[in-house]
Amino acid sequence: MMTYEQAKVRWQASHPPRHYLSISDLNRETAQIVLSLAHAMKRATQQGRELFRFERPTAVALIFEKPSLRTRVTLEVGLYQMGAHGVYLTQSDIQMGTREAVMDIARNLGRWVQGIVARVFLHTALEELAQFAPVPVVNALSDREHPCQALADLMTIQERFGTAPCTLAWVGDGNNVCHSFTLLAAMLGHQVRIATPEGYEPNAAVLQQARAFAAESGGSVTLLRDPHEAVADADVVYTDVWVSMGFETEREARMRKFLPYQVNESLLRLAKPDAIVLHCLPARRGEEITDAVLDGAQSAAWDQAENRLHTQKALLALMLG
Ligand code: CP
Ligand code: NVA
Repeated sequence: MMTYEQAKVRWQASHPPRHYLSISDLNRETAQIVLSLAHAMKRATQQGRELFRFERPTAVALIFEKPSLRTRVTLEVGLYQMGAHGVYLTQSDIQMGTREAVMDIARNLGRWVQGIVARVFLHTALEELAQFAPVPVVNALSDREHPCQALADLMTIQERFGTAPCTLAWVGDGNNVCHSFTLLAAMLGHQVRIATPEGYEPNAAVLQQARAFAAESGGSVTLLRDPHEAVADADVVYTDVWVSMGFETEREARMRKFLPYQVNESLLRLAKPDAIVLHCLPARRGEEITDAVLDGAQSAAWDQAENRLHTQKALLALMLG
């Protein structure tokens, strides 16, 4: 079982990122170190111990321009467990970009806190925070990526299947969660199949990056239209809402296009018998996923949600510790 000190030595020798805005800020080694430490931290926490506590007083600004359950709670609880403090800031508190310029917020926060975690509408706001903040910036979801989520996704897959390459089916919207999941899965050597309606494919630059990772790792990234083809004999079936935060005006058009992409029992029967189902949550029950699947024996969504805690603790301990 890896100790924090062993993880930190390997981390520092493996080109660690200063900021974590995208999966592309990691490499195969740093990604695996975060995951290995997260597995160890999970075991320790379940035994009532902590593997790591900050030695110096540590505070982290938690900026949320959008709502959150999992990300906020796991960050606050994780920081508390490691002896650090999270300062939760909503858009109505700080009005980033209107009451105050993003760069000025970054410079101010850098005088008081040791790290900034931010959930934003525009990925460019994160890039601006990172450019001007003298402390590490972590992406807690943007319109482009959700890299903290992907760490928990891949941890959950490792818990069920170890580190062997698996066939992973993404069904639905080629959105922020799809982007980070595909990038990290491709980096770690998995076969990723993505089935989306026309016009909702993942971003072309993200796909190109994911395919470059896959070429190095022996994985693959395949774009499909037919969800049945994507799910056939898959080890993992992953879906997310059809209408992400910020896209509410597109709801009606999206509902029509995404209907054939529902993850239900008949679709899941095409996957391997021991396949697991992932959902980043929150779910719209009866839309992208049925009750029977989300509450069924193959659902790993609750473990996946728990693993947000352990992976973010590992990441922040390595980046700020
Ligand atoms: N999966 C996820 O990020 O959930 P929240 O939006 O509730 O944080
Ligand atoms: N794709 C969703 C994920 C929520 C955690 C959104 O951006 O709203």
